[in-house]
Amino acid sequence: MLKVLGAQIKEFKKDSLLTPVFMILEVVMEMIIPLLMASIIDEGVNAGNLNHIYKIGALMIGVALIGLWAGLMGAKYGAKASTGFARNLRKSMFENIQTYSFSNIDKYSTSSLITRLTTDVTNVQNAYQMVLRMAMRAPASMIIAMVMAFSINARLASIYLVAVIFLGICLSFIMPRANRYFRQLFEKYDDLNASVQENVSAIRVVKAYVREDYEKEKFSKANQNIYNMFLKAEKLVVINMPLMQVTVYGCILLISWFGAKTIVAGNLTTGEMMSLLAYCMNILMSLMMVSMIFVMLSMSYASAKRISEVLTEQTDLKNPENPVMNVKDGSIVFDHVSFRYPGSDKYALKDISIEFKVGEKLAVVGMNGSGKSTFIKLLCRLYDPTEGTIYMNGIDIRRYDYQEYFGLFSVVFQDFRLFSFGLGENVAMSETFREEAVRDALVKAGMEEFLKEHNDDLSTTLYRDFDKNGVEVSGGEAQKIALARAVCKGAPFVLLDEPTAALDPKAEYEIYKRFNDLVADRTTVYISHRMSSCRFCGDIAVFHEGRMVQRGSHESLLEETTGKYYELWTAQAQYYVTE
Ligand SMILES: Nc1ncnc2c1ncn2[C@@H]1O[C@H](COP(=O)(O)OP(=O)(O)OP(=O)(O)O)[C@@H](O)[C@H]1O
Ligand SMILES: [Mg+2]
Repeated sequence: MLKVLGAQIKEFKKDSLLTPVFMILEVVMEMIIPLLMASIIDEGVNAGNLNHIYKIGALMIGVALIGLWAGLMGAKYGAKASTGFARNLRKSMFENIQTYSFSNIDKYSTSSLITRLTTDVTNVQNAYQMVLRMAMRAPASMIIAMVMAFSINARLASIYLVAVIFLGICLSFIMPRANRYFRQLFEKYDDLNASVQENVSAIRVVKAYVREDYEKEKFSKANQNIYNMFLKAEKLVVINMPLMQVTVYGCILLISWFGAKTIVAGNLTTGEMMSLLAYCMNILMSLMMVSMIFVMLSMSYASAKRISEVLTEQTDLKNPENPVMNVKDGSIVFDHVSFRYPGSDKYALKDISIEFKVGEKLAVVGMNGSGKSTFIKLLCRLYDPTEGTIYMNGIDIRRYDYQEYFGLFSVVFQDFRLFSFGLGENVAMSETFREEAVRDALVKAGMEEFLKEHNDDLSTTLYRDFDKNGVEVSGGEAQKIALARAVCKGAPFVLLDEPTAALDPKAEYEIYKRFNDLVADRTTVYISHRMSSCRFCGDIAVFHEGRMVQRGSHESLLEETTGKYYELWTAQAQYYVTE
């Protein structure tokens, strides 16, 4: 995990190295100051040597200024390294997510991916900054101060050793408990994000069904959980402060008590005692810092793990060793194909064997959940079959180059998505496009009116997410744009999953009328609930509970009066009398 994350530091290695170097320089300067102070008191004040006071005083100012500068530089490089590291993490995660197959994406919920890209990265960024600045500084400060203190007076300095051990024991009791809470805490963030995301994206449904109270309660619960967990953890962490103060003041008291006696006995100078008191603060503060680093590290450990999961997730749709690059459109054969969605033990498709040739138009019909959309997803390789093989031109589709293979399909998915950018870009799915081709596709998909309304302007932005002048499109309009997208791509295979489900009867009729013009002589798989709309496909496959139960032309299927097609057709004919 550390290796995976470490690889993301990249161009910020230099800043990451400079930070601790400057922090150590700051510590060294800080440590010199008490020594200079001792010298001012002992050889300046006590000896009445004003010259010495000026000289050492000036030196002290110089040392303090260098310390200040080193501290500032350390902070600057630390901030640069940690924010840059976070930027690289987000970039690499996002890039890796783009390579995910559907089964990779099914593993993580959307809200979890968002938490990982935001909250988790921020945690790791903070921890990284803290580690860069403190991980070297705190132990260095503690060790140097301890050595200095011992070199001044070993017997008195052993008081610090006792204090460090005492504080260390107390912290080792507090911190692991706090850690446990922190770890649980970040998992709760997923619930909170899921709650917000679902609510905001479905706000209309929430309002229409007057579910605000329920939603508020759901959110409050997730929010309260985080509050409770934070409170528990913080309650433990705050004990640190009084504990630290008791120890510091205890030390000061003991040093003053024994120190005074040692001075009276003539074994310690006043200046040396002042230095010892100054080191006291350094030692104990450093110990506190070390403990805070541990808290920070364990807080970010869970986050780091979640980030590295996203980074190391390997897409399971990989190109084979020597991919077949030249993909010609041709016959497609499903050979005993079965498929289960990842993590599901129910087969969505079971033992499908089907063949269709170039230029054929196949309609797939069946009830909800019968596996129609799954069939299309397997065909264009969004998932690989669990069992069986799909062949194109007699070659297993897994042997083709993935990008090349995908280029063969113009698809309108059932859950098509438009993006918040220009109309033309949405259709062409590229920033540069031939305006003529895009317009032609839009007209074919029945968007002529819409185009006219918007002055034939293909740069009209859809939705208002990024552009306040964007246009909101209706469900039907959106579907027509998705259809135009498939038409515009002009790939040799056209896969249409309920492409007219949101269209009004007139628009649907227009599409059917122009269907042959739309798909031309390309191989087409057409899914529809509207049985009558499948009639113009010569070949109809009937799916039921993940199996292909019938196949044939409309007429031949209707002859089988005990078959599923007959059942669906007659059931629908009752409701669509006019068809
Ligand atoms: N991402 C998924 N993860 C797990 N199971 C899924 C997933 N998508 C679909 N399923 C399951 O697979 C089965 C077939 O779904 P599919 O979407 O192929 O049906 P469909 O025939 O297209 O239905 P509809 O007519 O409603 O579009 C369903 O039982 C569904 O619960
Ligand atoms: Mg479907």
